[in-house]
Amino acid sequence: MATNITWHGNVTHEERVQITQKKGATIWLTGLSASGKSTVACALETYLLKLGFPAYRLDGDNVRFGLNKDLGFSEKDRNENIRRISEVAKLFADGCIIALTSFISPYKKDRDAARKLHQDAELPFVEVFVDVPIEVAEKRDPKGLYKKARQGIIKNFTGIDDPYESPEHPEIHLHTDKQSVEECVETILDYLKNRKIIG
Ligand code: PPS
Repeated sequence: MATNITWHGNVTHEERVQITQKKGATIWLTGLSASGKSTVACALETYLLKLGFPAYRLDGDNVRFGLNKDLGFSEKDRNENIRRISEVAKLFADGCIIALTSFISPYKKDRDAARKLHQDAELPFVEVFVDVPIEVAEKRDPKGLYKKARQGIIKNFTGIDDPYESPEHPEIHLHTDKQSVEECVETILDYLKNRKIIG
């Protein structure tokens, strides 16, 4: 824990919004591996950029190649993974960018902490539950990880031998076994328009 540190800054978030004419936000996608988080986030990112809204995607696998390369999948490491991502997403949102995070983020307390961090800074936080029955996720298994988890080659795999705590009151609840990617993106865009995050 660092001591003797001081927070610096002279541009407020309101001034940034006024200058850029854009509102930042964090769209927090949570769900099982192979639920469709990254697919929806990629499509949404493309859509937002084409509409002229700055958006940036932070993705589980990608972030673990760099910023969080020191972290594994123990509960403690997952807590730290989500804590760091929450802080980074908040910086994007403060900078008037729409941060799209796609992490399993299996623990409710970590997602709630991410929400609180944004609320305290008066930045919009939109929790999106990318829901799919585990049987469907396991059947998709695009990376072959469920198979390896069933064989015991991968330990602590979410949904198999590690917990996933479903959101109780997400702002948006998607069902990727019943909705197309386009429908999912449309649902999120409608929400962002209604909240006046995008105009
Ligand atoms: S977490 O729980 O939020 O910290 O996980 P996250 O950073 O999103 O990383 C999930 C991706 O890592 C791969 N992977 C695993 N997932 C779950 N459990 C275990 N044990 C595991 N080992 C590796 C997997 O590719 C996840 O990607 P997605 O996109 O979710 O399928």
